[in-house]
Amino acid sequence: MSEWDTFTQIKSGKGMWLTDSKGNKMIDAVGSMWCNVWGHSNPELVNAIRSQSKKLQHSSMFNLTNEPAEKLAASLIRISPGMNRVFYSDNGSSAMEISIKIALQYWKNKGEKKTEIATVENGYHGDTFGAMSVGYVPEFFSKFKKQLFATIQFPVPNKYRVPKGFTFSDYQEHCLEKIEKRISEDNNIAAFVMESGAQVAGGVIIYPKGFQRKISQLCKKHGVLLVLDEIATGFGRMGSMVQYEEQKSIPDIVAYGKMLTGGYLTMAATLTSKKIYDSFLGEFNDWRHLFHGHTYTGNPIAAAVANKNIEMYQKNHLIKRIQKTAKTFEKHYMQISDMDIVGDIRHSGMLMGIELVSNKAKKTPIQSKKSINKIFFEEGKKNGIYLRTLGNIVMLVPPLAISEKDLDLLLKKTIETIQAARHHFV
Ligand SMILES: Cc1ncc(COP(=O)(O)O)c(C=O)c1O
Repeated sequence: MSEWDTFTQIKSGKGMWLTDSKGNKMIDAVGSMWCNVWGHSNPELVNAIRSQSKKLQHSSMFNLTNEPAEKLAASLIRISPGMNRVFYSDNGSSAMEISIKIALQYWKNKGEKKTEIATVENGYHGDTFGAMSVGYVPEFFSKFKKQLFATIQFPVPNKYRVPKGFTFSDYQEHCLEKIEKRISEDNNIAAFVMESGAQVAGGVIIYPKGFQRKISQLCKKHGVLLVLDEIATGFGRMGSMVQYEEQKSIPDIVAYGKMLTGGYLTMAATLTSKKIYDSFLGEFNDWRHLFHGHTYTGNPIAAAVANKNIEMYQKNHLIKRIQKTAKTFEKHYMQISDMDIVGDIRHSGMLMGIELVSNKAKKTPIQSKKSINKIFFEEGKKNGIYLRTLGNIVMLVPPLAISEKDLDLLLKKTIETIQAARHHFV
């Protein structure tokens, strides 16, 4: 942390741009931590917040509900095939904690002994203890390893780093065979937890076609609940409203967050199928209900802005627009991959990871004594772009409604920034 002696203070945001206290402008390539949909200071979203805040700012979801939260639950169920009920929370990590608790308690409620959780290596589901346990990224969490609960982890095929002796397709088969063998032999697995469509914080590892679908089929066949995390990949980030639909894999439990409120207020949701919900029904003294609740759960202002956000997706055909605008990334593929420190680019919808290497042939990740993220942040800022890296990967996660013109500018600025930062690594 001593590298960060000062921080840039953001004063305002408009559209794709953030302005700091000294008047410098930066285009938001991070989508304000992957959640911004319509850009900053969107009048319709701001009005939704303003008008709800005049009526009811917060009231508890303990014994009560509120109108915006009920309306939002109905919309979430409508867009999420196979889902029947909604449990609110205030951030993605909590939504995943809740997903895990529901999955484990489901089996208790059914009177069955299934207590283990299967996951994929390198997944990320948030920074709380349960979320760290199911999403173990060694660089982030190794200091807490002893306190995390054990999970069964399976490898994920990454086209850029296929182990020696395998073709990519053989390796994919190999990964799926490992999963099948274990979950067909181990009757104690309660749930399979994974990000839907891609591992984002794990370095934009986009699953090969059919991978998630096959896992969902294996889960169904062997009585394992499928828990999908759409917090970073759903709501259009990868070009579909609901990524699990695109992947042809219906989960038992799914979590949304980040883009749910357009990126304006903090809210997340865990959805379950009817089968799961029904297992929690019973008389009070049956103790089947879920003991979980947060103070700000179902906050009406957050729910009101989420409702407006979903309405705007439909009114503006946002998913179609993302699919069209995302082609702008493709126009820059060649120029990016031609750079001598770029090893791989991985892209889907409004998500791109650019993996930087010091040796293209050996695929050696770039290294530096100073944080790579800090180098890119500083070079980016000079260039008028807010950039963040995850390790050696430059992440491009702009607001979903960015125009082709702004995305083109963002990509040009990214290329210039990589070129400017290059001397730190070669
Ligand atoms: C896939 C995924 N799940 C969960 C989370 C945690 O969400 P939050 O930061 O809102 O707790 C994140 C955050 O980046 C994420 O990418």
